[in-house]
Amino acid sequence: MTSAIRPLIAGNWKMNGTSASLAELRSIAGAFSQAHPPACDALICLPATLIAPAHGALGDGIVKLGGQDCHPQDKGAHTGDIAAPMLKDAGASHVIVGHSERRTDHGESDALVRAKAEAVWRSDLVAVICIGETQDQRDDGETLDVLRNQIEGSVPAGMTASNTIIAYEPVWAIGTGLTPTSDDIRKVHAHIRARLAAHFEGEAERVRILYGGSVKPDNADEIVAIANVDGALVGGASLKARDFLAICEAYGTT
Ligand code: PGA
Repeated sequence: MTSAIRPLIAGNWKMNGTSASLAELRSIAGAFSQAHPPACDALICLPATLIAPAHGALGDGIVKLGGQDCHPQDKGAHTGDIAAPMLKDAGASHVIVGHSERRTDHGESDALVRAKAEAVWRSDLVAVICIGETQDQRDDGETLDVLRNQIEGSVPAGMTASNTIIAYEPVWAIGTGLTPTSDDIRKVHAHIRARLAAHFEGEAERVRILYGGSVKPDNADEIVAIANVDGALVGGASLKARDFLAICEAYGTT
């Protein structure tokens, strides 16, 4: 963690969860409302169908709610898509854009991710912009170049520490139980911050850079202690309140 940055543990429920899952959210919110909550911020990025009921249950509380994607336009004839103003209306404060599952499953380019991030900002929401290399790119020694290109292509001009969070998620580590070594994470996060500094001087040292990819209760302590890791983006382990809270508690309690 970079000293002045308040850490964030963000959950990404992906295509999981129905109204029955709101009980998990209530448990998470309950832990953050107690006298000694985890010493980090919490965000859960929900399926779009759950944002309004979750907001109804939790309100504008300590646990923030997010969407997982949005269309680059604010409205229009785009069947099945969802726009940032709709997510805001439902109660979201954040939106993930450029997750590798979107980049792969839907062929999303850096330019499209950038346009989506701009749409998120137009609605005064925070964009969680995901970047990360594939196994092949890693094997070919291209990790740092890939990340530099994704930062230049996906992060719009106008990025600030308030409107954006960067999530480094090696594609090969997502949902696999594999994680880079702490040394690899340290090198990559330092590289990301340096690349951001080249374009966004004055903001780069304050922007949160999250690590994502197989973060679990049993590796969270080690990961959150790495320099320039300002929190985590957690998929599978965010679906259960107990696991998500155990990861949050890697930062201790207040
Ligand atoms: P995982 O997913 O924690 O299940 O690996 C992370 C993500 O895709 O955000």
